[in-house]
Parts: sequence; C-alpha cells; structure tokens
Amino acid sequence: MRTLVHLSDLHFGRIDRALVEPLRRAVSDLQPDLVAISGDFTQRARRSQFADARAFIDSLKAKTLVVPGNHDIPLYDFVERLAAPLARYRKYISADLEPEYQDEEMIVLGVNTARSMVFPFGEGRFSMQQVDRILERLKNIPKSLLRVIVTHHPFDLPPGVHERRLVGRYAMAMERLAAASADLFLSGHLHISHVSHVADRYKAGGHAGLIVQAGTVSTRGRGGQAPSFNVLRLHRPGIELERYSWDDSAAGFTSLPVGRYRHSDSGWTLDKK
Ligand SMILES: [Fe+2]
Ligand SMILES: [Fe+2]
Repeated sequence: MRTLVHLSDLHFGRIDRALVEPLRRAVSDLQPDLVAISGDFTQRARRSQFADARAFIDSLKAKTLVVPGNHDIPLYDFVERLAAPLARYRKYISADLEPEYQDEEMIVLGVNTARSMVFPFGEGRFSMQQVDRILERLKNIPKSLLRVIVTHHPFDLPPGVHERRLVGRYAMAMERLAAASADLFLSGHLHISHVSHVADRYKAGGHAGLIVQAGTVSTRGRGGQAPSFNVLRLHRPGIELERYSWDDSAAGFTSLPVGRYRHSDSGWTLDKK
C-alpha cells in the first residue's frame, strides 16, 4: 500500500497563513510515501514567495515530486518571463522540471505544462515530445505498478468550468497516454477538488484512468469549496481517494471519503461496496 498526498496551488503570497502549520501537521501525520505538488507554488513568482514555498516543502520532511504552474512564471517581469521563465522556480523549488519517482508499487512522472507564451499556447500545454518521453519511460514498466502522471493543467473539468482551461493538446496527449495504460492523472490549476473517469471525456480505448484534481489552501477562488488537499491510498487493484478539507469547528483538516475504485480490464471503476 502506498499513501500519496496530492497538494496543489499553494500560492504563497495568497496562501491562507493560518492554515500553513495545520497543513504541514496534517500531511506529516499521514506519513505519506510521496507528496505530489501540482504547481502554482506562488502567487506572482516573487523570490520571497518562492523562499516561503521552499521552507514549507522542507518542513514536510517527506519525499516530494513537484511540477511548476503558470503562476510560477513571472507575469510582469517581461525580460525574465521570456528569457528564463522558470529560473526562480528552478532555483528555489526544483531544478528538474520533469521529475520521476518509482518504487515497487508505483511510478509517478511529472510533466511541466506551464508556458511563458500565453498566445498561442493558452494556459498550458502538453507537447508531443513530453508525451514521447513518458511513453518511452513507461515502455518497460511492469503492469503491476500504478502509473501516475502529474501536471499543473488539467485533463478534465468540474461541471461549469470552461473548456479553455483544459491543458493544451489534451486530446493528443490523452489518446497516447491512455494507450500506455496511464492510471491516474493528478493536476491542479482550477482550485476545485474533483474526480472523473478518462472515459467521461475521451475515447480511451477501453482503459479508463482516473483524473483527480486537487483543491487549494490559498484564498484565491475555490469554487465554493473549503481549503483542501487530496489523499490517495493505492493498493492495486484498489484506490481509495479522500479529500481533506479545512473544518473551522475542528480547527483542522478533516477527511471525507470521495470514492473507492477498483481496477478491471476496462480500467478503474467505482467500487460500490
Ligand atoms: Fe492556481
Ligand atoms: Fe494555475
């Protein structure tokens, strides 16, 4: 069994300061095998915001796998935005923009979908080369390992969110990743915790992976949800997904079961039992 904590969109600069220590404690108490953080570490890519994000990551005292978000690229510093968009992210958060983690039960691959050129790439994008890299990496991985892809920009949307917020080239990327039996897609960007099946949006060739969105603990828009993060307990052929939401009355993050999924020939299905 593996415990994977999924945090996203911490947005240091707009994080709810009162929640930082409770969040750190909640994550530590879970003793995760890995903490995946799917981008937007900062609000405006300022050095001080990155320094605070770095201190938070260090304070978790856990293995982490991180990818950048669009807010980790300076917005108004045009020289830096165009010349070295992720220089500060690389300095403070991770020099590796496409990190990997592997153990006996899972392989987790991070993909940088943040782009400095908003036009023509929109909010974020998956390139053909990035898909090639993942397929190459998954080629010789035993079927028994869970295959997890981490991006900032999402492959699916909660109801009511406009399609332009999907990761660019999502159809091309998903068609090929589904064919490579990718099991789980973790992302953020929308600040709304949500789970759906790949087959809900895509023709997945009979393999339905799960698309999992994490919420945020920042004070930016959260679609009416409380500050939250996700916890996945992975024990193939099962996945249990829980949302940990901030509960004022408990003065802490409390867990809510979202679903138990079981793997079958056609992918992950909701376990009714
Ligand atoms: Fe964000
Ligand atoms: Fe974002």
